[in-house]
Amino acid sequence: MFWVSRARLLVFLALPSLAFLFLQQLSSPSHCPDVAEKSSPTHVLILSSWRSGSSFVGQLFSQHPDVFYLMEPAWHVWMTLSLGSAGQLQMAVRDLIRSVFLCDMTVFDAYMAQGPRKQSSFFMWETSRALCSPPACHLFNREAIIPSADCRILCGKQPFNMVEEACKSYSHVVLKEVRFFNLMTLQPLLTDPSLNLHIIHLVRDPRAMFCSRQNTELELMHDSHVVMGKQWNKMKSEDRPYHLMQAICQSQQEIYKAAQLLPDSLRERYLLIRYEDLVRDPLTQTSKLYEFAGLPFLPHLQVWVRNITQGKGLGGHPFDTNSRNAQSVSQAWRWALPHDKVVQLQKVCKDTMSLMGYLPVLSEKDQRNLSMNLLSPPEIP
Ligand SMILES: *[C@@H]1O[C@H](CO)[C@@H](O)[C@H](O)[C@H]1NC(C)=O
Ligand SMILES: *[C@@H]1O[C@H](CO)[C@@H](O)[C@H](O)[C@H]1NC(C)=O
Repeated sequence: MFWVSRARLLVFLALPSLAFLFLQQLSSPSHCPDVAEKSSPTHVLILSSWRSGSSFVGQLFSQHPDVFYLMEPAWHVWMTLSLGSAGQLQMAVRDLIRSVFLCDMTVFDAYMAQGPRKQSSFFMWETSRALCSPPACHLFNREAIIPSADCRILCGKQPFNMVEEACKSYSHVVLKEVRFFNLMTLQPLLTDPSLNLHIIHLVRDPRAMFCSRQNTELELMHDSHVVMGKQWNKMKSEDRPYHLMQAICQSQQEIYKAAQLLPDSLRERYLLIRYEDLVRDPLTQTSKLYEFAGLPFLPHLQVWVRNITQGKGLGGHPFDTNSRNAQSVSQAWRWALPHDKVVQLQKVCKDTMSLMGYLPVLSEKDQRNLSMNLLSPPEIP
């Protein structure tokens, strides 16, 4: 009698834990076909600076049907914590990026207004093809090239939680950021076992960035202030553009040099690309970018890349220059900037330029002579 009841008692006691184990088995990834059969996602960070063609490179990825893309998620951090400097905000930016790579969008609770949100609460959400097609929005096809202007009108009312659902349905998550100033901050993400992070470092001739920034000075004012922090108010206003470019040039040099010092296994997760090489030969360079990210260069994307880089895009295309040829746009600074400004800029960005292979012009005559080539291969430090 005693033994029987003891055995019963044991079974009785063991049941809940057996049931628990059974349920755990059911819910563990190996029993969940959605998750188990996909290999783990690839994460790509397009690391760049303002006016460097990063929106264009972002679009190359965003329009790929395997990619969930967001442009500048850290914009929300900089806008919300607007009294901080870039250095003070870098860890908040890094942690946000990590969460977004893992499709955890609750991180935006800290940076968005309370109350019901739509997917349109995201900065520049309409530049993400993934947010314009299923499961986020059913008005476009997932495999189509989707112009952001059309998407903005048709898909803005979708609820915020669609963003997370959409993100989880892709094999690649790609983010574009201009708000990192060194590689050290990002290093923990490169070694994080829950991420498979690849970094595309996009640089552009500082003289072209400078030229382009002049036309967008007001738009960039808030960001410029955050980049320079407290120093901003101490600077003479005419010196500010040069101090800014100096800070940007320095950070690009630091990132490039730090990448060369990574151990081999991580070194191959970093790719430097110059905007000028991309516009010279868009198809070859795009193919290189896709290969680095493990994405096929699909035929409709090849046609599209050829179209937009020859100025045949149908409105709202990613070169913000509508119909002019991208290659000549990348040389616009040579006739638009006064030579004395170029000389001053070449002084503050000297080391970065020589590292990245941007040759200085030594006279106004050389600056205006467009047959003079100003590109050499980047140095390996
Ligand atoms: C490329 O351009 C042609 C001619 O303007 C157009 O008919 C076609 O739809 C475009 N294709 C893509 C994928 O952009
Ligand atoms: C412009 O540059 C090219 C290539 O360096 C050179 O051959 C040519 O003489 C230059 N033209 C003028 C007007 O200086």
